[in-house]
Amino acid sequence: MAKPIYILNGPNLNLLGQREPEIYGSDTLDDVKAMCERACKDQGYGLKFAQTNIEGELVDLVQEAGSKGAALLINPAAYTHTSVALYDAIKAVDIPVIEIHISQPAAREAFRQTSYVAQAASGSISGLGINSYLLGLEAAILKLK
Ligand code: DQA
Repeated sequence: MAKPIYILNGPNLNLLGQREPEIYGSDTLDDVKAMCERACKDQGYGLKFAQTNIEGELVDLVQEAGSKGAALLINPAAYTHTSVALYDAIKAVDIPVIEIHISQPAAREAFRQTSYVAQAASGSISGLGINSYLLGLEAAILKLK
């Protein structure tokens, strides 16, 4: 059986749809999950989709993706800009890792201008709303071909 694609979401993304909708839109994380499930199914992949507000749990899930997943998409949310632990976890896995953002951090506050995750990931997609996830899936699947 083919390994699934992992999509991991960091802190506050459980509030998608209610949280700053002018920045993040009105779709919920369940809507994003359903959209990604359809896209994975169309491409013949299973999906493991998770969200946590806890940095260490995200590290555990990255490690799990490294052993049980075909590829990893990660929206690390605020941990993008702070987490050396996530950087190290991504460096330690040997699968394609695509960093995803709904908004465009490069066009926002100064504290969002550094991404530790971008320095470890295979590539990054941001600023395209929830379509960043679909484009990230496409990029991961292309990398797997
Ligand atoms: C985000 C961007 C981050 O800067 C922010 O902390 C988030 C969401 C995005 O998807 O646009 O929580 O990762």
